[in-house]
Amino acid sequence: MKKLTLGLAAAAITVALAGGALAQTYPTRPVTMIVPFAAGGPTDIIARIVADHMSKTLGQQLVIENVAGAGGTTGIARAVTAAPDGYTIAMGHLGTFSAAPATYPGLKYDPINGMQAIGLAGGTPILIVARKTFEPKDLKEFVTYVKANSEKVNEAHAGLGSVSWTTCTLLKAQLGVPKINAVAYRGTGPALNDLVSGQVDFMCDQIVSVAEQVKAGNIKAYAIASKQRSPALPDVPTTTEAGLPEYQIEAWNGIAGPKGLPKDVVDRLVAALDKALNDEGTKKRLLELGTVMPTAEERTPAGFAALIKRDAEKLSPALSAAPK
Ligand code: MLT
Repeated sequence: MKKLTLGLAAAAITVALAGGALAQTYPTRPVTMIVPFAAGGPTDIIARIVADHMSKTLGQQLVIENVAGAGGTTGIARAVTAAPDGYTIAMGHLGTFSAAPATYPGLKYDPINGMQAIGLAGGTPILIVARKTFEPKDLKEFVTYVKANSEKVNEAHAGLGSVSWTTCTLLKAQLGVPKINAVAYRGTGPALNDLVSGQVDFMCDQIVSVAEQVKAGNIKAYAIASKQRSPALPDVPTTTEAGLPEYQIEAWNGIAGPKGLPKDVVDRLVAALDKALNDEGTKKRLLELGTVMPTAEERTPAGFAALIKRDAEKLSPALSAAPK
């Protein structure tokens, strides 16, 4: 019995030492950060800005791999079912982590109990945007027009369960026009290209990819679905100011990895994310695009996991009932 106790104690010490050694050495090679959408969309933009600085802290490159498909769930499934060694993580968002469970009954991952939340990278306010030649001049006209022409208008989104799909699904439910022709893209990067060239009519998207195009006058923004205007687009009214106060939704992007990641690895990633978000240059790039900087609590695994769960619960009834 004594021998067994000693044996267990020795094993525990070995595991503890191995963990310590891992913390000192991790990462010894590049880390893959999966972006579950095409390049040029908000998830890709935030991932590249944050990964740039995290790579410096970690001493190894965070390599972005775009794995698009099924509203981002293909890429997230690959990341959170990878070996829990810290070499595969993902940048996901409100869609892949909170909307997907209610959208995909056979979802291959469980964002609440089956993955390791690492931290929130940024809040990303939602804008209702349209091609610049779209007839409605403001949000009130947009609402009237879409209701009267629901057979004719085209919406662009990044696939079922994506943020663009989720947020426009909530908007359409509020307007009482749940069914509208929709064109699904592999990300809102390519969707935005088609909006700029006038091939689709409107989209709901995260501010970071649309802000520059709105400022350049290449598309128009009817409203931002937040309580306050964004400093990045001060001329765009809130939905409350523009006459649709009940339409409010906050999106976000954050990092997660497989369940079972060693604590030391999680700690290193969390510290690297925190350092990136505190870096003046990184912060400036994110703020210029309209990102809302996460609080200290939201940057922690527990704070981020709580946000994922809260939003999943909030979205579940509407998304379960939405036409797919
Ligand atoms: C979304 O609609 O979920 C995102 O905008 C997709 C993306 O990041 O491209």
